[in-house]
Amino acid sequence: MTTTFVLFPIMITFIFLFTTNFLLTVTASQPVSFPSLTIHTTTVSSNDTAIAVMPTLSAYYFVEARIGLPRFRVKLALSTSTPTTWVQSADCVVCLDVPSKSMNFDPADGFEPVLGDDSKYCVPPVAKTATLGDPCRYVLGFSQGILGNDTFSLVSPPSTSSPPPSLEINHFIFGVGKQNMVNFGAHSPIVGQLGLGKGHPSSTLSQLNISRFSYCLPPSNSNHQNTTATLEFGPKAGLTTAYYYNTPIVEGPPDHPFDYYINLTEIAINNASVYTPSKQREGGEPGFVIDVGATVTLLYKEAYIRVKDAVMEYLSSNFGLYPVYPSRPVSKPPIYELCYYNQDLESITTLTYPNISFHFEGGAVLQLPESQAFHNFVDELQTCLVMIPRTGTEPSRLGASQQRGWRFTYDLLQSELSFAPNGC
Ligand SMILES: *[C@@H]1O[C@H](CO)[C@@H](O)[C@H](O)[C@H]1NC(C)=O
Ligand SMILES: *[C@@H]1O[C@H](CO)[C@@H](O)[C@H](O)[C@H]1NC(C)=O
Ligand SMILES: *[C@@H]1O[C@H](CO)[C@@H](O)[C@H](O)[C@H]1NC(C)=O
Ligand SMILES: *[C@@H]1O[C@H](CO)[C@@H](O)[C@H](O)[C@H]1NC(C)=O
Ligand SMILES: *[C@@H]1O[C@H](CO)[C@@H](O)[C@H](O)[C@H]1NC(C)=O
Ligand SMILES: *[C@@H]1O[C@H](CO)[C@@H](O)[C@H](O)[C@H]1NC(C)=O
Ligand SMILES: *[C@@H]1O[C@H](CO)[C@@H](O)[C@H](O)[C@H]1NC(C)=O
Repeated sequence: MTTTFVLFPIMITFIFLFTTNFLLTVTASQPVSFPSLTIHTTTVSSNDTAIAVMPTLSAYYFVEARIGLPRFRVKLALSTSTPTTWVQSADCVVCLDVPSKSMNFDPADGFEPVLGDDSKYCVPPVAKTATLGDPCRYVLGFSQGILGNDTFSLVSPPSTSSPPPSLEINHFIFGVGKQNMVNFGAHSPIVGQLGLGKGHPSSTLSQLNISRFSYCLPPSNSNHQNTTATLEFGPKAGLTTAYYYNTPIVEGPPDHPFDYYINLTEIAINNASVYTPSKQREGGEPGFVIDVGATVTLLYKEAYIRVKDAVMEYLSSNFGLYPVYPSRPVSKPPIYELCYYNQDLESITTLTYPNISFHFEGGAVLQLPESQAFHNFVDELQTCLVMIPRTGTEPSRLGASQQRGWRFTYDLLQSELSFAPNGC
């Protein structure tokens, strides 16, 4: 079962943006190349479905759906590691801390449970075997309940002048969540997930026969009403972006059938390679997944240590800055290991943060702006590298905070992930 990192321990209320420049004295070990972006010449305006994507303060990204007749509105977090869409039910036993009285899935209103004998949808690994004639039970990473079927629509951005059609589905199969074990952050309006993972017959993508989708994540503090960030479905999704990088979507291990694996080739700090994976998923390297439902990036321990060491080395040798831990013991270290006191950072007028870039098979490069790699935790008076080391066999996950601003397009027929900056 896949669990993703669920929330920031502290709400991000402000992000540093340093504008000063500084000449670097980088001792580049192995310079890495930055191929130029592919030029896609036939820019078309997409007629496909575009759904508004909005952020929560804790870096979950959600869409708004309308379910049932009479309809009620729900906010569902995007997830590329969950295939099936699920929504908390009013009669939940383990519940998200949100009002969900209206989410009463009643056959009298047209809701229909999927039954255990439905061999199309009620199959493993999402569905558990159910007694014939009984409701089909599902188990996803964060939620358990029954599969059901109702009218379902996803809402277009309010600000578009000629709105593209909202997505309307008459009989959509989704999970009615009775036990929902996830925390979407304090005061979050989210009551479920829109599954964008691949694989299962009950997945959103399989039901809608979608083999291409694209999204762009706006900054966490952007105006909810005014975002132009969209989730697009269909053959032309994401094509309005003229320049992009491509990397193959590769097969994951059998126990991760829903995730989108891509081949990491290098992590670089200021254009110098600091980490090259050994053969992925052989000899212990657990692979690299892009995951819009993880709020921050989780890095394989070896990779994290190299990144952390290189960032520390850069800040100490160029600016004489030393981190809070372990040089100054504190009683309660945060989940982010590499933090600096804001007071120390602010004392350096020439400070520039190091550029961190992720390089992928096929020459694709994701360069993180400093605001996506470092966050200022104002209550703690510290700024931290917002990546988390992970041990064991779980893959690294590129989280939503490090995807913001780029447009990512997933093409399942071509098995290709494309991404481009300034995609919102
Ligand atoms: C897009 O929609 C418009 C209006 O409905 C239509 O005239 C046009 O042919 C469509 N374009 C494509 C590429 O489907
Ligand atoms: C969904 O519900 C409709 C009627 O409400 C029914 O005709 C259809 O067979 C149901 N689909 C599934 C997969 O249960
Ligand atoms: C699904 O989409 C593909 C093209 O993307 C199309 O060839 C196929 O006919 C569609 N299947 C259904 C059942 O609509
Ligand atoms: C949204 O943006 C438009 C133009 O960019 C502006 O005129 C409008 O006031 C904004 N609306 C809100 C609610 O901020
Ligand atoms: C890193 O590479 C980019 C793109 O090739 C280049 O613009 C930039 O100057 C390089 N930075 C350093 C510190 O070498
Ligand atoms: C991805 O990496 C794996 C393991 O190194 C390799 O076997 C595979 O060929 C790579 N896939 C692509 C599409 O390059
Ligand atoms: C980071 O990259 C930007 C844009 O490529 C560049 O202007 C800046 O100097 C780089 N910073 C460092 C520390 O290399």
